[in-house]
Amino acid sequence: MSDSRPIGVFDSGLGGLTVAKELFRLMPGEKIIYLGDTARCPYGGRSDDTITKFGMQDARFLMEMDIKMLIVACNTVSSVALDHIASEIKEIPVIGVVLPGARAAVLRTAERKVGLIGTSATVRTGSYARAMQNIDPGIKVYAKACPLFVPLVEEGMADHDITRLAAQYYLYEMIDLGVDCLILGCTHYPMLMETIQGTVGTRIQLIDSALWAAKEAQDILTALHSLSDVKTGGLGSSRFIVTDLTHSFEAQASSFLGNQIPAIEKIPLENLAK
Ligand code: DGL
Repeated sequence: MSDSRPIGVFDSGLGGLTVAKELFRLMPGEKIIYLGDTARCPYGGRSDDTITKFGMQDARFLMEMDIKMLIVACNTVSSVALDHIASEIKEIPVIGVVLPGARAAVLRTAERKVGLIGTSATVRTGSYARAMQNIDPGIKVYAKACPLFVPLVEEGMADHDITRLAAQYYLYEMIDLGVDCLILGCTHYPMLMETIQGTVGTRIQLIDSALWAAKEAQDILTALHSLSDVKTGGLGSSRFIVTDLTHSFEAQASSFLGNQIPAIEKIPLENLAK
């Protein structure tokens, strides 16, 4: 049995492309419909009500596209509103990025001291600490919001001195706290992987929530016998939709995913905010 319908993936902006990239790597036959709500990015400094409303609108938009699975490729929405979204959408599996990253960190920390970086909303909810301490109540979690990182990525400044300075400002305390794992609890952050690893040093293992979420999606689709056997899947037959199309988004999406990426489609924000 196979299912050639696409996988729906959404984020506030570019960040969810880190999940899309891992999905293509693990399951090259799959097609993705990606939604980046770039007109309203970033979500991470907003209230729970607004994040829930935006997340629900993103989810409903993708549900109209006959998808077989929904991936909330945004830690902010996963932390604040995943239960709400999953309770509204019963027809297909809905997964977020927090649980897979939390499980991976619990398995990898030898010292049982884990650092978490994310948006203000992700840190405020305590979602990662809860998920990890449900598995191992003895784990210590040190969380730090890094609100400058998302705009720096969206501006295409991943490899810039300002970003390295921001990383030092946010991350030096993680070294002093003695964590042995650091969760990249925002799907934009894998785009800063080199800067972050260079700042904290190789003694601290980085846990990429995007990678672990893609692995979970693969496990679920495999268990449901819902992988696609269509050889024409992959980047070229996927769709990338945004609510505001900036030159920076186009340039970064193709440099991150490869230039076989199809033309990015812009939709009016009103199509989401119905
Ligand atoms: N990629 C989103 C996340 O994982 C970014 C959040 C934002 O828009 O602030 O949280």
